[in-house]
Amino acid sequence: MASLLRNNAMQEDTHEHFALQWYGKEQAKTEAFSDCKHQIIFEAEKSLWAEQNEHILLEADNLVGLKLLHANYEGRIKLIYIDPPYNTGEEQLYGYSDKFVGKKELGNNSKKQSYALSQAAWLSMMYPRMLRARDLMTKNGVLAVSIDNREVFQLKLMLDEIFGHENFIGELIWVNRTSPNDTKLNFATTHEYVLFYAKHKQNVRFEGLDKDLSQYKNPDNDPKGPWMADNPSAASGTTSYRFPIKNPYTGEDRFPPKGRFWAFSPQRVAEWTESGKMKFHNQAGKGFLLKKYLHELKSSQKALDSVLVGILTAEGTRELKSLYEEGAPFKYPKPTALVKLLIQQLCGPEDWVLDFFAGSGSTAQAVLDYNSEAKSHVKFICVQSAEPYNAQNKAYAAQFQTVADLTRDRITRVCERINAETGSQLGFKYWTAAAIKVSNEK
Ligand SMILES: C[S@@+](CC[C@H](N)C(=O)[O-])C[C@H]1O[C@@H](n2cnc3c(N)ncnc32)[C@H](O)[C@@H]1O
Repeated sequence: MASLLRNNAMQEDTHEHFALQWYGKEQAKTEAFSDCKHQIIFEAEKSLWAEQNEHILLEADNLVGLKLLHANYEGRIKLIYIDPPYNTGEEQLYGYSDKFVGKKELGNNSKKQSYALSQAAWLSMMYPRMLRARDLMTKNGVLAVSIDNREVFQLKLMLDEIFGHENFIGELIWVNRTSPNDTKLNFATTHEYVLFYAKHKQNVRFEGLDKDLSQYKNPDNDPKGPWMADNPSAASGTTSYRFPIKNPYTGEDRFPPKGRFWAFSPQRVAEWTESGKMKFHNQAGKGFLLKKYLHELKSSQKALDSVLVGILTAEGTRELKSLYEEGAPFKYPKPTALVKLLIQQLCGPEDWVLDFFAGSGSTAQAVLDYNSEAKSHVKFICVQSAEPYNAQNKAYAAQFQTVADLTRDRITRVCERINAETGSQLGFKYWTAAAIKVSNEK
């Protein structure tokens, strides 16, 4: 049983391999590529402005959904963002169940066994979906998966196997809460992860973020334009970069601060004094100012940092509350700002975004809001199963039978809000997956 979940070194031919193994892996792989016995049904009355829009909400188990999408969307999805169940063990999570139970026949009588079996069950759920998802991605497509510390390491190994570790872009550490969630240990986990994988990493480039240029000003009307004070010293260098710089007004020599080096060679001093980039003070004890001009910046963009701060999970709940008077009908929806950031970083104006664990529809709202703000035409496909809706707020018990009912309702509300504000006809096509009836008649 201890071998249920393990990283094992396997001997295959003459090569040693490192792979994640768990009970049920082979069967999960078979499920990934078994025939699809469903077809798509278009539901006009559940759609909104269907003819005018390409956005899709597909009500289906997502493995069935991914197989169905293959026919028309193979190689077309630029960004897959998913937020799968984290395997918290919470059966009654507001909205849906997040409990994965291992196969009873393997014996669940110890805590260790049931933990391993639950992880195996979660991996067996994820594996076929990840195998099928990759096929839908464009050549420069990216998969972004939200996950927390329960399953992040197993998921990483699984995705390394499917995408190739060379296509692992990195993990975003998303600082998503400020208050501690475990007071017993006095250890506060305040972050989650977003794992990024490319179909082909060499084809991917993040947009980056705008640098803060507000420090660049022009108080002395310098004809070379706005500037800011530059740091003239550097932490590393050679002894030849510890030369004295003489102030022509006061005759004082200035050296770099202790343990540091000038960030430029002696030749630059004359050149920059002449051009005005280096300005000496004419008071004793004062050194010089080195100007960094705005026009010298190679780029006004900086790379996206792998630690993300400033967006909290609580924002997602607030956003949902702003659509639902009686309170948020779903626990821990993702803040749209997180998904919008991914879209802004990775999508062009006509690209497709897929979320096949749609939940309350945060990704759809992120796409719709992003399009309004950025004047883009990004399209979404959201897949959500008809999992029974677990209503903890009585107000919603009668309103939503399934989680997909909520997904649809939220997307409808967002479209109607934007339509009312802008006079547009935003909407989506509602599809369901129906089992194909096999006729016995000869
Ligand atoms: C963590 S929630 C996603 C929350 C979503 N990101 C949001 O902001 O509202 C996971 C969702 O995946 C759905 N789900 C779980 N298994 C699924 C499956 N096999 N097919 C389709 N949806 C599934 C659950 O019903 C749940 O709504």
